Amino acid sequence: MHSRYRAVYQQWQDNPEAFWAEAAKAVHWFTPPDRIFDPDQGVYGRWFAGGETNTCYNCIDRHIAQGRGAERALIFDSVMTGEKRVYSYDDMLVEVQAIAAVLANLGVGKGDRVIIYMPMVAEAVFSMLACARLGAIHSVVFGGFAAHELATRIDDSEAKLVISASCGLEPGRVVPYKPLLDQAIDMARVKPQACLVLQRDQLHAPLRYEHGDVDFGQAVEAERVKGTQVPCVPVAATDPLYILYTSGTTGQPKGVIRDNGGHMVALAWTMRNIYGVSPGETFWAASDIGWVVGHSYIVYAPLLAGSATVVFEGKPVGTPDSSVFWRVIEEHDVKVLFTAPTAFRAIRRDDPDGDLIYRHDLSGLRALFLAGERADPETLKWAERMLKVPVVDHWWQTETGWAIAGNPAGLGLLPAKYGSATMPMPGHAVEVLDDAGHPVAAGTLGNIVIRLPLPPGCLVSFWRADQRFRSACLEEFPGYYKTADAGLVDEDGYVFVMARTDDIINCAGHRLSTGAMEEVCAMHPDVAECAVIGVADQLKGQIPCGFLVLKNRVERDHALISKEIVDLVRQEIGPVAAFRTVMIVKRLPKTRSGKILRGTMQKMADGLPWKMPATIDDPAILDEIGEILADHGYSCNRQALRA
Ligand code: COA
Ligand code: AMP
Repeated sequence: MHSRYRAVYQQWQDNPEAFWAEAAKAVHWFTPPDRIFDPDQGVYGRWFAGGETNTCYNCIDRHIAQGRGAERALIFDSVMTGEKRVYSYDDMLVEVQAIAAVLANLGVGKGDRVIIYMPMVAEAVFSMLACARLGAIHSVVFGGFAAHELATRIDDSEAKLVISASCGLEPGRVVPYKPLLDQAIDMARVKPQACLVLQRDQLHAPLRYEHGDVDFGQAVEAERVKGTQVPCVPVAATDPLYILYTSGTTGQPKGVIRDNGGHMVALAWTMRNIYGVSPGETFWAASDIGWVVGHSYIVYAPLLAGSATVVFEGKPVGTPDSSVFWRVIEEHDVKVLFTAPTAFRAIRRDDPDGDLIYRHDLSGLRALFLAGERADPETLKWAERMLKVPVVDHWWQTETGWAIAGNPAGLGLLPAKYGSATMPMPGHAVEVLDDAGHPVAAGTLGNIVIRLPLPPGCLVSFWRADQRFRSACLEEFPGYYKTADAGLVDEDGYVFVMARTDDIINCAGHRLSTGAMEEVCAMHPDVAECAVIGVADQLKGQIPCGFLVLKNRVERDHALISKEIVDLVRQEIGPVAAFRTVMIVKRLPKTRSGKILRGTMQKMADGLPWKMPATIDDPAILDEIGEILADHGYSCNRQALRA
């Protein structure tokens, strides 16, 4: 099929406002916007100013009003418990209204913040939608984060209420959430008025009613029985729908704000044009609602489009084996699957010849989309061979909320180039600049930036931190949003994303800050200084690796100190940090001005070519680092390139 991509991208370039005004017709507005784009509002302008709408209305009520209430909306499939439930749009309305009624009874209204700290259960999605229905702002915290991370988010968002569950289920272990929640609330400066706790059969949590704990199941059941109706509260298109905290360069996460209007318009556009999914079809994003992929493509986009979404609790491998994705695709007639490359690396490791794949009927599957980290060509080609459908790498970030570059199946696929995320999506004027801000020639590596304004659906700012947003993202390259990704655009316009330019790493598709891990390592009383870098890992893409210099006269056992530090990171950040490798070194390599040469250490560890930095203070330290890496089994490159 001939791709309409170029024509559609041109259409957007010719008249961005007309393009988005057309896309906005897919959304129900209580009051249509006065202006498609208002450059005078917000940090870089605002989309759909003056419009009034409601995201929950568009995800549920609108479909029911169109007579589609009995169609499948959400399929909950837990391999961890064996539960499977299918909700129609009508069923979902009942659930969401009941939760919204409970929230309203607890005093939650428009603009209030609600933290959702839950495993992958249907109730988590309903809770997000219930917040949206009331005009409240949700902030979902990934279950793999520890109490301190949760406390930081409660404080920063000044949450009025927390919705949580008694436990999450990880392979081989039940993760009690309630003790983490209680610790977080004890630590937090801001005390939420109440905590709604969903009791799961695998573990009942003792509730502290005197502290405002409420049994989620009982409270919601009471409203369900009463049949309480909760109307959708009209909100401004520019009002926040959610805050999603993501790793920044320090331990203080950045609260990405997504609005209601622009977010809906953009996501509805992507379902049809990027993913090629129609109303009534099943779309499955095998991610977690704690991440942006989960927000956009487990919850909002499929429901806005009137498709069915899958909420899957389990892992791609080991629950019970690497065939579980194929079982879910076959059983629920999934048309398009979206996941992180790491999931496919795990499946390939366990079933290299695809023996388990061929036992399933995957004839309904039309495409696989990968994102969250660079899709290595080997994994991508393997997936193509095994699934016999197009495999699309597309590039985006928590900040953008949807794909900056991709290959739009709905417009007709472009010829793919391995290693490239293909072309910029409409709305995104992607350029590559050198460090001084000058455009580079096609094919030259540089800083990937997006010309302002960002399209609808991208972040509008950081929560109550406009200046942080400006200084982190907009000031280095005036007139542009800095993606903090390095890469190139080739002579055909294909975008290649190679690496982050900051200290964010991608571990098993999870975005982590090595800066935050350094802050935790530095808390240990024996540590004088430290550097955490991401080193290449065959399964997870990257894993963190800590280099620690101990204080003088510390004579304790190094193995014991290392273990304490690993435990400390797990306790402070959470298991998701996957921080297991610690190397105790005498000194860290630095420039003469004292900057730690993390980039050079990383290249050495990954066995890549590296140059001796001209400003290095003492080159001998790199020899010591090389030795330690080799002792730890890294096939590192210890020899600098000749200048
Ligand atoms: N709640 C509590 N703990 C969690 C958790 C959660 N929601 N998610 C992960 N963890 C824990 C894991 O149990 C593990 O703990 P352990 O150290 O005790 O083993 C730790 O955090 C690291 O988890 P993870 O990085 O996910 O590694 P894994 O070895 O458990 O699984 C993969 C590896 C590749 C199978 C898995 O990471 C995966 O499915 N990745 C896909 C990621 C994804 O969908 N990303 C979203 C972007 S699209
Ligand atoms: P997150 O905010 O968790 O979605 O992580 C965003 C970061 O993941 C990006 O800035 C990239 O560094 C990386 N990333 C996501 N998708 C891709 C991709 N398709 N190719 C390369 N890197 C990617």
